[in-house]
Amino acid sequence: MKGVLFDLDGIVTDTATYHFSAWSRLIKDEFGLTLPEIVEERTKGVSREDSLRIILEELDLSLDKDRFQYLTNRKNQCYIESLNQLTSEDILPGIFKLIEELKQKGIKIALASASHNGPFILEKIGLIDSFDTIVDPGKLSRGKPDPEIFEVASAQLGLAPKDCVGIEDSIAGIKAINSAGSCSIGVGDDKLSEAFQRVTSTKELSVTLLQESWNNFVNDKL
Ligand code: BG6
Ligand code: MG
Repeated sequence: MKGVLFDLDGIVTDTATYHFSAWSRLIKDEFGLTLPEIVEERTKGVSREDSLRIILEELDLSLDKDRFQYLTNRKNQCYIESLNQLTSEDILPGIFKLIEELKQKGIKIALASASHNGPFILEKIGLIDSFDTIVDPGKLSRGKPDPEIFEVASAQLGLAPKDCVGIEDSIAGIKAINSAGSCSIGVGDDKLSEAFQRVTSTKELSVTLLQESWNNFVNDKL
């Protein structure tokens, strides 16, 4: 294992829930409707625009281009407001220690998040200097579950995807890691059954677990 590719929302910080809250508030304000719970799972790992497409499909609504643009902008405003109070206290359990240990062992780390707010969040929680590289989602042509973001993340580290482990809390993200040819670690419930290795909390993540998973991943391929 030479590199670790981190998802952000729901892995490094608890911001996955903030995304859903921002969408819920917006849809309540604009349409007086309540978002079905399934939206939270379906929009995990998915770009802002694709998230709105999923929401419109779930609510059986259609919008013109301008209104679509207006809603994605407003959602981001709501979301950014909720990030105001974010500090290093919001780093999910075990993640700070994991990153420290990876650095000590000379294992490179990349941020592979669909979020355009990634650098802002890392700055707020004090981890911006810990990452060797951050993928710019604006430069990608396809979102998760396409493998592109994980392929680009490993390339930015100067590594092959097979030498990396990817950590994700979304179904789309696990599919993307698997398709990129990296070893996938899922953090969540059995919805993430496609993950090569699954844990239920970030607390369980350690360099040993990642290394052992990667060793098994390589052995399985032989
Ligand atoms: C992903 C989240 O990390 O980023 C999605 O899991 C979100 O829920 C996506 O839609 C895009 O985020 P942003 O911050 O660019 O709107
Ligand atoms: Mg996530």
